[in-house]
Amino acid sequence: MAEIILRTEHLCKNFGGLKATDDVSLDFERGRVHAILGPNGAGKTTLINLLSGELAPSSGRILFKDYDITDARPEKVARIGIGRSFQKTNILPGFSCLQNCWIGAQTCLPTSMRFIRPARHLREVHRRADYALDLCGLSGQRNRIAGTMSYGEQRQLEIAMMLATEPELLLLDEPLAGMGSEESQHVTALLRDLAREQTLILIEHDMDAVFSLADRITVMVDGAELETGSVEQIRNSKAVQDAYLGHDDEEVA
Ligand SMILES: Nc1ncnc2c1ncn2[C@@H]1O[C@H](COP(=O)(O)OP(=O)(O)OP(=O)(O)O)[C@@H](O)[C@H]1O
Ligand SMILES: [Mg+2]
Repeated sequence: MAEIILRTEHLCKNFGGLKATDDVSLDFERGRVHAILGPNGAGKTTLINLLSGELAPSSGRILFKDYDITDARPEKVARIGIGRSFQKTNILPGFSCLQNCWIGAQTCLPTSMRFIRPARHLREVHRRADYALDLCGLSGQRNRIAGTMSYGEQRQLEIAMMLATEPELLLLDEPLAGMGSEESQHVTALLRDLAREQTLILIEHDMDAVFSLADRITVMVDGAELETGSVEQIRNSKAVQDAYLGHDDEEVA
């Protein structure tokens, strides 16, 4: 049985009368890719925002390894090893790829590193940035100004910025959104490489990518967990098919 790296217990988030997250209790295993599917407005991004500290839950608990991070702020969550990417690109377009990764690495160095000599601190920032660019196949573009790259490359850079924080768990909110098929295949391959070493929680509308990457899938509807299982279980689930048929007019993730 794999270690549970992250657990939510009866997690709820209300926006006024709307239950955007409705009593969600999930276990995420270390080393696995756990995808979250659901129609538009199902509460996928809200769940990621709760896990990353961007939003505070209305009730329930979030446990990362042995820590209760229910009330932790985003900087603290990032520092203890949870990295996230956003549904919309979040890079600094006027800076180079390397500088963007420096910023990622810099913001997440452990508190103890802030008291050591600046030169060593800087070396560590550079090491992490180089490592992240290398992993994402962007080493050759390190000095390129981020804003001049293609949309797909910018999304790759965003993943690199997250990796520069050397997280133990990656939260990815629609990393393939808005990409053409070639770019999307490229980033899917990158995610597959990352998945060999990392734990991923992946929100993605591209079903082919989800079915090819995920070890486990949770389907959400109206803020609640509808079903969790293997790719085969979810593909064959009557409840999931009914839920999607019930959202015929919407894009399905
Ligand atoms: N800050 C907010 N204030 C009020 N309502 C919100 C807020 N954020 C999200 N919501 C609502 O919560 C529900 C869930 O939204 P969320 O963005 O989590 O859905 P999603 O599953 O990520 O959808 P999509 O696939 O379109 O990205 C929606 O009804 C949305 O309008
Ligand atoms: Mg979303």
